[in-house]
Amino acid sequence: MTPRTVIITGGGTGIGRATARRFAGQGDRVLVVGRTAAALDETAEGHDGIRTLVADITEPGAGETVVEAALQAFGRVDVLVNNAGTGTFAPLAKLDRAATEHQVAVNLIAPAFVAQAALDALEATGGTIVNVSSAGSLGIQGFPDNSVYWATKAALNHFTRTWAVELAPRGIRVVSVAPGVTDTGIGERVGMSAEEYQGFLGQLAERIPLGRVARPEDVAWWITALADPEGRYLTGAVVPVDGGLSLT
Ligand SMILES: NC(=O)c1ccc[n+]([C@@H]2O[C@H](COP(=O)([O-])OP(=O)(O)OC[C@H]3O[C@@H](n4cnc5c(N)ncnc54)[C@H](OP(=O)(O)O)[C@@H]3O)[C@@H](O)[C@H]2O)c1
Repeated sequence: MTPRTVIITGGGTGIGRATARRFAGQGDRVLVVGRTAAALDETAEGHDGIRTLVADITEPGAGETVVEAALQAFGRVDVLVNNAGTGTFAPLAKLDRAATEHQVAVNLIAPAFVAQAALDALEATGGTIVNVSSAGSLGIQGFPDNSVYWATKAALNHFTRTWAVELAPRGIRVVSVAPGVTDTGIGERVGMSAEEYQGFLGQLAERIPLGRVARPEDVAWWITALADPEGRYLTGAVVPVDGGLSLT
């Protein structure tokens, strides 16, 4: 069987890295994309099937650059994982325009244009787009100080549902994986101190029915499972991988 080719944005850290290694471990070939070469290299270390591309997915034309790199390296694209994401905490009264636009650019606009660039290649393989959103965007509760991030993730789920219908005639499936709290160090990257982040994870763990926050590998398993060709009858679904937290 020809190995599949998977593009993963934000593949240098966290959920993206665990997902890249899981796909590679099952024999697929992977292109990981991010802005930090050293992080991408670390993901690829020891995995022959993983290639790296340093790119900022918010740049105009980045989608085409990413897809071209995958086609040049591997000749096909079977799966696009729109995983790169970012967040900045601020209440409405203190929203900063540049930070707001950046979150929308990374979490929402970039996934659309990377996906757009990949459409022909995905159609050729009967491929799958997996959008990584967030379980916090599923319910009707509000999340103080984080409105922009959650709004982008709720909108990403609407992309999933809409693209699923649009792209079904082209044989392309689209799903969202909506992780709950996952210990990837993301808290520190969005402005929390190490202490605040550990406190936040500990508090959350007490509320999670399965009794712990997720590990990146817990989410990676679901991303690879939903992208499996044998799952061919699922499209448009938003799958919470949150230990049951969104039900509480
Ligand atoms: N961790 C959680 O608790 C959690 C919960 C729910 C949902 N999620 C979502 O899951 C996804 C992965 O999260 P994570 O925790 O693994 O986060 P992470 O480790 O911070 O990963 C985000 C990745 O995105 C890349 N990235 C950011 N901006 C980029 C840009 N402009 N161009 C290219 N790459 C860019 C980053 O690499 P560079 O900075 O090197 O570019 C980084 O590798 C995100 O969409 C996040 O919102 C996470």
